[in-house]
Amino acid sequence: MTDANAQAIYFYDRHPMSGEIIKAKLQAARGHLNHVTPEELWPHDQDHYGGIAATDALAQAASIGPGTVVADFCAGLGGTVRYLAHRYGADVTGIELTSSRAAAAQELIALVGLGESARVRQGNVMEAPLGDGSIDVVVSQEALCHVPDRRKTLAEAFRVLRSGGRLAMTDWIANTPLSPKDATLMWDGMAIQPLETMSSYGDIAREAGFRVQSATDLTDEWGPILQQRLAMYQRLREEARQAGTPMGHDAFHESYIRFVELILRRDLGGIRLIALKQD
Ligand SMILES: C[S@@+](CC[C@H](N)C(=O)[O-])C[C@H]1O[C@@H](n2cnc3c(N)ncnc32)[C@H](O)[C@@H]1O
Repeated sequence: MTDANAQAIYFYDRHPMSGEIIKAKLQAARGHLNHVTPEELWPHDQDHYGGIAATDALAQAASIGPGTVVADFCAGLGGTVRYLAHRYGADVTGIELTSSRAAAAQELIALVGLGESARVRQGNVMEAPLGDGSIDVVVSQEALCHVPDRRKTLAEAFRVLRSGGRLAMTDWIANTPLSPKDATLMWDGMAIQPLETMSSYGDIAREAGFRVQSATDLTDEWGPILQQRLAMYQRLREEARQAGTPMGHDAFHESYIRFVELILRRDLGGIRLIALKQD
């Protein structure tokens, strides 16, 4: 385990969205946790910008449908894993570094009865615990920004995909290089590694062997979404403070406020990348 990975685990072990919080919200709203449907989790379990619509955009670009074998790189609480299994009929395996999140994801999968077609395994996407050519589509949402070696990760995506398989992902990018102060803040608060740019992402995908089909700049789309998300985190923090439960660490809240400013200034941004493993 490298220090770089340890920082991501530290951050996600203290993240303001957790399996416990999701279950507490459901319990409060419905009085019990029997017969919970996947749809009931959607307002709480999608830890990426744009919610299920963002996942629909990836699913459609990668032609995910019934029986498609999907791997979700950096699956978090498994929101995307459950959504693709339930809505699209795909067979989905998430790979997630932080043990507490992989365990929470498995618990939520069991809660909504999707255990036959969805699972999240603890693992590192730089050495994905998946066989060569075993996957039709690799998805990943806003997560490779935490991964120390993205070249290695895209090479892993290429290795696990079958010939003709697709990579469909979103991630943070830097439109302008971050100042050392902001880079430190993003690392301390959110375990963000040095970022790719629109063009370097295409380059590393091609180096891994992919043909890039599209690279879409999501920066303007993310601005208003992130403002709402910041308000949600501030609400959760206040609820947690009042309830005496974990509130997320202070550096996270400080860095998130700055992150949203940097997105609105377009210094930081987002990319949706769709790439093909050619025959
Ligand atoms: C922003 S969350 C994304 C969650 C998920 N993609 C979603 O959309 O709901 C990022 C996740 O990446 C995980 N992660 C970070 N580095 C990783 C690595 N090297 N391998 C696997 N997972 C990793 C973190 O533990 C965290 O749960």
